[in-house]
Amino acid sequence: MTLILEIKNVTKVYGKGENKVVAVDSVTLGIKRQEMLLIMGPSGSGKTTLLSIMGCILHPTSGDVIVDGERVNDLSEDELPDIRKRYFGFVFQSFNLFQSLSAAENVELVLRLKNSANPRQRHSWTGKDFRREALQLIETVGLKKRADFYPADMSGGEKQRVAFARALAGDPPIILADEPTANLDSKTGQEVLRLLMTLSEEYQKAVVIVSHDPKAEALAHKVIFLEDGRIVRS
Ligand SMILES: Nc1ncnc2c1ncn2[C@@H]1O[C@H](COP(=O)(O)OP(=O)(O)O)[C@@H](O)[C@H]1O
Ligand SMILES: [Mg+2]
Repeated sequence: MTLILEIKNVTKVYGKGENKVVAVDSVTLGIKRQEMLLIMGPSGSGKTTLLSIMGCILHPTSGDVIVDGERVNDLSEDELPDIRKRYFGFVFQSFNLFQSLSAAENVELVLRLKNSANPRQRHSWTGKDFRREALQLIETVGLKKRADFYPADMSGGEKQRVAFARALAGDPPIILADEPTANLDSKTGQEVLRLLMTLSEEYQKAVVIVSHDPKAEALAHKVIFLEDGRIVRS
């Protein structure tokens, strides 16, 4: 099977002169659909920088980023948001939900945003269609009964599930998750990791997760270990 996401010899340098930091140093890797890649490593080893480059949020200083066979380095800043919306769903440690929107509304908002980026489908969607799809995604992550709850009335694990439902909006082939279990207790964290595994297998997503959780190691298909921006073990 072909790689949905590939990075080749990617380096990221922050700052200049004395303040220069090589955050990611000559990293090469690839991931297929239905694969779960785990990135581990101590704090400051370059995990978030690497994930941001993989998700086309950050430009590498050198090296190639190839999404679905297309080299994205050459694309302009104007073109990158479309690539992000079509190919990636993001999940962060801090959930990043809109407090004034219910669980379903949080998902609906992203569906509407992504809809405008996808030329292939859904231009005829009405409010009802967005609502139906949002509820479907909320159900996928096991939160049917919480659809109309606001973030303030949900547990950490529930909020992270909403974040996953939102990442699934628009059916992107790649899910990137940066320490998604860091703010959760160990049992809830494990449930969230299992959910990620399900997404990768049942919904054929390529999943890249940054985590310190040893339980994530058991679930992942591939593990890379970063130190000072380099892959020291894989
Ligand atoms: N925006 C930035 N500007 C300057 N240095 C940064 C920036 N972001 C991260 N760094 C540095 O790059 C290195 C890697 O950071 P990061 O990717 O956040 O690592 P991790 O996620 O593994 O903790 C660290 O030394 C960090 O201080
Ligand atoms: Mg980080």
